[in-house]
Amino acid sequence: MCGIVGYIGPKKAYPILIKGLYRLEYRGYDSAGVALLDGGLNLYKTKGKVADLDRIVNNRDDTANVGIAHTRWATHGEPNEVNAHPHYSPSRRMAIIHNGIIENYGSLKKELINRGYKFSSDTDTEVLIHLIEDIQQQENLHLDEAVRIALNQVVGAYAIVIISQDYPDSLIVAKKGSPLVIGVGRDEYFVASDPSPIVEYTKDVVYLEDEEMAIIPRNGELEVKTIRNQKKTPYIYHLEMQLSSIEKGGFPHFMLKEIYEQPRSIKDSMRGRLNARSGIISLGGIIDYEQKFLNCKRIIIVACGTSWHAGLVGEYLFEDLARIPVEVEYASEFRYRNPVLYEDDVVIAISQSGETADTLAALETAKARGATIIGICNVVGSSIARVTHAGSYTHAGPEIGVASTKAFTAQVTILSLMALSIADKKGSISRSRYYQLLSEMEAIPAKVEKALETNEKILNIAKIFQNARNFLYLGRGYNFPVALEGALKLKEISYIHAEGYPAAEMKHGPIALIDEEMPVVVIATIRGSYEKVISNIQEVKARKGIIIAVVTEGDKVVREMADHVIEIPETDEVLVPLVATIPLQLLSYHMAVLRGCNVDQPRNLAKSVTVE
Ligand code: G6P
Repeated sequence: MCGIVGYIGPKKAYPILIKGLYRLEYRGYDSAGVALLDGGLNLYKTKGKVADLDRIVNNRDDTANVGIAHTRWATHGEPNEVNAHPHYSPSRRMAIIHNGIIENYGSLKKELINRGYKFSSDTDTEVLIHLIEDIQQQENLHLDEAVRIALNQVVGAYAIVIISQDYPDSLIVAKKGSPLVIGVGRDEYFVASDPSPIVEYTKDVVYLEDEEMAIIPRNGELEVKTIRNQKKTPYIYHLEMQLSSIEKGGFPHFMLKEIYEQPRSIKDSMRGRLNARSGIISLGGIIDYEQKFLNCKRIIIVACGTSWHAGLVGEYLFEDLARIPVEVEYASEFRYRNPVLYEDDVVIAISQSGETADTLAALETAKARGATIIGICNVVGSSIARVTHAGSYTHAGPEIGVASTKAFTAQVTILSLMALSIADKKGSISRSRYYQLLSEMEAIPAKVEKALETNEKILNIAKIFQNARNFLYLGRGYNFPVALEGALKLKEISYIHAEGYPAAEMKHGPIALIDEEMPVVVIATIRGSYEKVISNIQEVKARKGIIIAVVTEGDKVVREMADHVIEIPETDEVLVPLVATIPLQLLSYHMAVLRGCNVDQPRNLAKSVTVE
């Protein structure tokens, strides 16, 4: 939620900042702004997208070589120009950008109002910059010291960058709970919410820890300290990320590019971890914690959104293969429910971004109660990855489209590897079944490739249903989470109401919705509850519903009943979500494009939800 960028160095700041905002736009896109220091402190902001901001600035302040910029996902105050960041301090001599929430902003604001301060926006961020300037002026302090003292009064989450006319040769940054990375170039520094605005210029970065701040000079050494005033030595990481991985590479949208990347990204998730011929799964990140899995009485999976759907697949996998009971929890409910936790529980957090506030908080709750915390994250070095005891990165590469696609299949890949590895060590599946599933896993990327060949067919189906107002998605067993994910994808990006349901549960409610206008997507792959799903299809047909069926190649039975059939390659029931998800991603993509929706940046959503 919200993207922040900063630059200080010899180059022109604006082109770097605006390009950075475009790269971070997936984090929020209801308003945007930039502050440039060029003698004076000039601030431009607008409701709308980064392109709207770019039109307004139109290369004014071209010469400034210090600046900060922000793309917003509104939390406090409606998305308008006044609430857009940056925010000026009362004297207008400094400005701030902020990602996060200052929870005690109400009481701080009241105090400041009592002392005569006036506010122009409804934001928590404006309160923070007022507080900083108030402390600075009252005690006649250096800016960084005022920032440090102010942050000690703040409850909540923040990644902030402050720019000041009185300190034109430095940026002040700080972080707690929201991500912030500093790029270390030659005689220049970059700041951003993630490395994507930075990699073009330098691959050397410093990740700040929570409650750390940095004074970033125009020239010279970076100074890092905690907000309790302890000096820290910054550790410089060298990023492996390639610029091409964050560009569209000829695709019209990031989402389509990421859908098509899946044969590769699934392979990358398995790379070095799976050797089917010798029957080896080696998840280096969790090797020291395998005993915890083997001894635990249950696994709790916490996640949000699409990652929660991957968690549901994980439940089927771990229960089916490793015979360990699993509970899949919405992180937001789990954290506030006073959950029962035992020290021998294994809690797995699944998160593409590794920054989702609810998932992070749920983990912290579980960790405090002594459970073992395992992470499945995509973003290396993210907050969740750092809080966990151990984990496995998904290695899907940067996912930029707001609707998650390749991250989902990568998460399911890791969960499959984990469940299989534990099952084998526990002896809960036979060796022959283990070997069979391992070689089937190796075959998955090629099958996903094949599933992508349904694209044309799906486009034609999308053309027929582009004006539908409701969709139902049905699946059973391993295909139930696939149905949920298919429905979520459709509503996220095409704004069509869609519900995912366990196919048999349909008769307890959704069946009342079915008429000749209602498209019902049924995942009816061979094996599992195939015959039962066929009965569910008949129940829909009897009520004149329209069936769009995802079936196994060569299926003849469902073809007879369905109005539209999408064939995918056969795979083991256990691994079918990895293949069956593909046509549903493509269906939602084409529906959204045909309806003229902004596929990569659907309204009201954000990719990284760092607020609860
Ligand atoms: C947002 C995104 C979803 C994502 C969810 C969880 O809602 O739009 O695509 O599934 O957050 O995010 P995470 O980064 O924790 O997987």
